[in-house]
Amino acid sequence: MRVSGCDHREVLAVRRAVPADAGGCVAIVRGLPEFFTDDVAGKVAADLKVHPAWVAVNDGGLAGFAVVDRRSARAAAILWMAVAAPLRGGGVGTQLVDRVLRDLAESGVQVVEVKTLDASAGYEPYLATRAFWERRGFVQIDTIDPLPTWPPGNPAAIYVTALATTR
Ligand SMILES: CC(C)(COP(=O)(O)OP(=O)(O)OC[C@H]1O[C@@H](n2cnc3c(N)ncnc32)[C@H](O)[C@@H]1OP(=O)(O)O)[C@@H](O)C(=O)NCCC(=O)NCCS
Repeated sequence: MRVSGCDHREVLAVRRAVPADAGGCVAIVRGLPEFFTDDVAGKVAADLKVHPAWVAVNDGGLAGFAVVDRRSARAAAILWMAVAAPLRGGGVGTQLVDRVLRDLAESGVQVVEVKTLDASAGYEPYLATRAFWERRGFVQIDTIDPLPTWPPGNPAAIYVTALATTR
């Protein structure tokens, strides 16, 4: 039962994803056409099969997800992250990323990367995405254009955050 009628933060839980969550994650991606091209749903489904993932769940179902690639013992990358379109801006992403980063830190990860669309693309929707990463402590360290694995015309902003000192 909701404690407060309009604050879903109070009923949100974050847990590790299970295979049955894949359909819900893909539905979230498909609900964000301004952010994800058509091919992304398939890539997310494939990555969910081989990489660790976390989901945010509220009493309405899946509210968001994050897929992580453990690059090495000390480094990880957030490959995909999204919050259901109607819930964006309500704190779900913050709770999700806080849990992911806490779990990664506990398992020895010291630095975490995320790539997103660079400001030089001039594409307004990703303004909020970059603001989100920056507010969560990620620092842009580079712009790569073109990034070999991304379609031309999509300059990549490379962000990192430190979970521990590395020297
Ligand atoms: C990016 C995303 C995962 C963030 O999740 P969310 O639940 O919307 O984020 P939250 O509500 O927890 O936090 C939003 C933060 O961004 C900030 N923010 C959002 N829009 C902003 C804007 N236009 N300018 C400045 N700050 C902005 C908010 O101030 C807030 O920070 P604060 O809580 O410290 O004030 C989600 O919005 C999303 O799915 N976006 C579309 C897909 C996407 O871009 N995925 C990431 C690809 S790299």
